[in-house]
Amino acid sequence: MCSAARTFPDGFLWGSATASYQIEGAYDEDGRTFSIWDTYSRTPGRVLNGDTGDVADDHYHRWSEDVGHIKNLGLHAYRFSLAWPRIQPGGSGAFNPRGIVFYSRLVDALLQSGVQPVATLYHWDLPQELEDAGGWANRDTALRFADFAAHVAGQLGDRISVWTTLNEPWCSAFLGYASGVHAPGRTDPAAALAAAHHLNLGHGLAGRAIRSVLGEQAQVSVTLNLHVTRPDDPDSAADRDVIRQLDAVGNRVFLGPMLDGAYPQDLLEDTASVTDWSFVKDGDEATIAVPLSVLGINYYSTSRARRHFGDSPREHADGHKESDVSPWVGADDIDFLTQPGPYTAMGWNIDPSGMTELLTDVGARYPDVPLMVTENGAAFYDRVSADGRVHDADRVSYLHRHIDAVGTAIDSGVDVRGYFLWSLLDNFEWAWGYDRRFGIIRVDFDTLERTWKDSAYWYAELIRANALPPVDRIPTHSAVGSTAG
Ligand code: FCB
Repeated sequence: MCSAARTFPDGFLWGSATASYQIEGAYDEDGRTFSIWDTYSRTPGRVLNGDTGDVADDHYHRWSEDVGHIKNLGLHAYRFSLAWPRIQPGGSGAFNPRGIVFYSRLVDALLQSGVQPVATLYHWDLPQELEDAGGWANRDTALRFADFAAHVAGQLGDRISVWTTLNEPWCSAFLGYASGVHAPGRTDPAAALAAAHHLNLGHGLAGRAIRSVLGEQAQVSVTLNLHVTRPDDPDSAADRDVIRQLDAVGNRVFLGPMLDGAYPQDLLEDTASVTDWSFVKDGDEATIAVPLSVLGINYYSTSRARRHFGDSPREHADGHKESDVSPWVGADDIDFLTQPGPYTAMGWNIDPSGMTELLTDVGARYPDVPLMVTENGAAFYDRVSADGRVHDADRVSYLHRHIDAVGTAIDSGVDVRGYFLWSLLDNFEWAWGYDRRFGIIRVDFDTLERTWKDSAYWYAELIRANALPPVDRIPTHSAVGSTAG
């Protein structure tokens, strides 16, 4: 089928996303204190090449230029996150007016440019002091997060279109506290499940705090990286049970309490040898089930798994060592298998059908909850050509196929309200440092100069037309805006 003519519903929200630690830099300015990522990135061996977010894209000083790019791209909405240690140094007690001023100016500039601000309250930069007190494994962190949310809601008020409480709590809990490949780098499966619960609780408390400050009409959301995992052998009951298990500890651990008001029974059983879940107190699940205005979904790729039997050697799709701790708590006897390519520079397989499948599946499970793709995009090893441009045809192709896949889900009746491309700018890609580039705008990490890649021109054309352009339609600089490139 030729998808060149695919159009999107009127009012479909086209955006792009970033996160505070990945772009801001200015790690010690205007009263900001350390987050767990400042500590983690300074720990030898944790981040590729020893990179840190100390400077990152220097967005803290270049935000005005970046809003210019957002405007020239024609984005309807911009999803960014708020650095908790900037706004409330240490994570409790007094708030820092200089921290909020930064975001207040950014939000005003977006609004003046006709761009809706979509604010994420937590994109992984927990104040270090809260981690020292137990981090997300400690219930009090959820209460501190609600205080932070209430304060920010009071300060930014109705200028924010959508409030996203958490970004990808699966990563915070399981990569942060079980496998340790993200900050704070702990490898304690019981702590990871406690963290998952306290993140859920923090979401519920923060969502309720936002509505108590701004009123019931405030748009409250959360962003989940739901996993699309296929059974190695769809006819094998054992493999199908693996998929159920991964769906429980990867997806329903959040969807259950947030949207059904309860943890799934099979999750509690699968993890019974790790924890008795006594950290879930009476009323917590009801608190967590704060009504969602929209559910944010991040999608990048798929995986394939099967039951591991006996003494046969373990297989690991990502090549990690046998001794590494798995993030899949309670699901130890599972092999993840190599997916067919092609792959992005992250080693993630490119599979747009997973996008359609995920949106369709969640849409069927929760037909009353509107969905928004809050992240999708790809890292590739971009090259600057002799003409000074970045001809990132592989990224354009990835975006084309995935946005088309979103359209397929919409065609089948799923209520998808918008799409946010990850990412606006090349940035600090967590444990991969500056080595993996996801931006549609290139950042030269020596000069911090920004250059539109072909994918940025292509995306601007898509937004202008509200229709999917062919991959080779890369408009010229002058066609899209005076400060582009
Ligand atoms: C997601 C994160 C985002 C970015 C992309 C590539 O897991 O939310 O910050 O790193 O992956």
